[in-house]
Amino acid sequence: MTLRMKLLASAVVVAAAAFAGPAQAQVKEVQMLHWWTSGGEAAALNVLKQDLAKEGYAWKDVPVAGGGGDAAMTALKAMVAAGNYPTASQMLGYTVLDYAAAGKMGDLTETAKAEGWDKAVPVALQKFSVYDGKWVAAPVNVHSVNWLWINKAIFDKIGGTEPKTFDDLIALLDKAKAAGVIPLALGGQNWQEATMFDSVVLSTGGPEFYKKAFNDLDEDALKSDTMKKAFDNLGKLKAYVDPNFSGRDWNLATAMVIKGDALVQVMGDWAKGEFKAASKTPGNDFLCFRFPGTDGSVIYNSDMFGMFDVPADRKDAQVALAKATLSKSFQSAFNVVKGSVPARTDVPDTDFDACGKKGIADLKKANEGGTLFGSLAQGYGAPPAVANAYKDVVTKFVHDQIKTSDEAVTELVKAIDDAK
Ligand code: GAL
Repeated sequence: MTLRMKLLASAVVVAAAAFAGPAQAQVKEVQMLHWWTSGGEAAALNVLKQDLAKEGYAWKDVPVAGGGGDAAMTALKAMVAAGNYPTASQMLGYTVLDYAAAGKMGDLTETAKAEGWDKAVPVALQKFSVYDGKWVAAPVNVHSVNWLWINKAIFDKIGGTEPKTFDDLIALLDKAKAAGVIPLALGGQNWQEATMFDSVVLSTGGPEFYKKAFNDLDEDALKSDTMKKAFDNLGKLKAYVDPNFSGRDWNLATAMVIKGDALVQVMGDWAKGEFKAASKTPGNDFLCFRFPGTDGSVIYNSDMFGMFDVPADRKDAQVALAKATLSKSFQSAFNVVKGSVPARTDVPDTDFDACGKKGIADLKKANEGGTLFGSLAQGYGAPPAVANAYKDVVTKFVHDQIKTSDEAVTELVKAIDDAK
């Protein structure tokens, strides 16, 4: 390039800069919609609020109570329809993809590349946080649902041993019943019942069956005798639940186990966050076992911060949120409190308790062994319409509006087929 051309080029650059105008004044605030309103969940969220405050970002909380997030997603739909995009929202897998397909999400790809997310975040999560080659969400954690949470004092009192089969679990529940303790703590809400049924199906039919039925939505699997047997097993569990279970919030069911009013809860490991918030420790106050017959497999869901296409003056705050979420320090500090495991594979388990360490080890093994499956109840098995159809059939069976396992199988096949 001649000297004259260089001078001309630099003159163009100077002129352009003069007309660029002042950089957009940025709003130093993160507006987050979420459903983390229990003790353990709020404690975990505080870790993020404090991290962002250190960087000068205020937190505009948009909490929508209701375990499992259905109410929150209804509120989000209204906000987005009104054009009032939050900086981000807690979302589950297929819901992220729905909003991305609707063109509502921002593009975090530049930040993701700079921060090396593609190397640290498992492919199973990238399937939901990357849409059309763009990063649209920041994975916060990996929860898994195929757990038993057991009160250790009761377990010892009744001479319990870790149940390895579904029949062992029934025998353990019988021992609790004989001791006059509520055997199974359940919240009678559709998402909780379906979250428990995820584990029953995996236990009854095994990994390949779970994948075919609840990830591939294979009709032969859905209408099989194995699915009927799974409903039979769910029917057996119903006999161990207290009469006041209907409508109970999940964390109140967890509190029953914490207080020793009940022996066991089948629940995702967000329940561990409640034990931790109550200063309970694994091995002393409670035990965490994989749901019997599911050891070696992990039924997962991941909380993601779906990042919306916010106005230019809110982009810096969104990038700060994304970076804070995937920072290694946050990924350890948050998940230790939340009960989940990191969304990055390069975070040490140093600060995690025994259940957290087991969760991290199980996820690694399942990820490498092809036994990591998306939870249908928790937004990672199929799109929301199918998941809602599933939850509806399961809750009707648990609350005796569907009388038999055969009828439940027929209803399930029809409901999922109609929702696809
Ligand atoms: C799940 C979510 C968890 C926890 C749970 C109970 O869907 O992934 O983080 O919030 O609901 O509300």
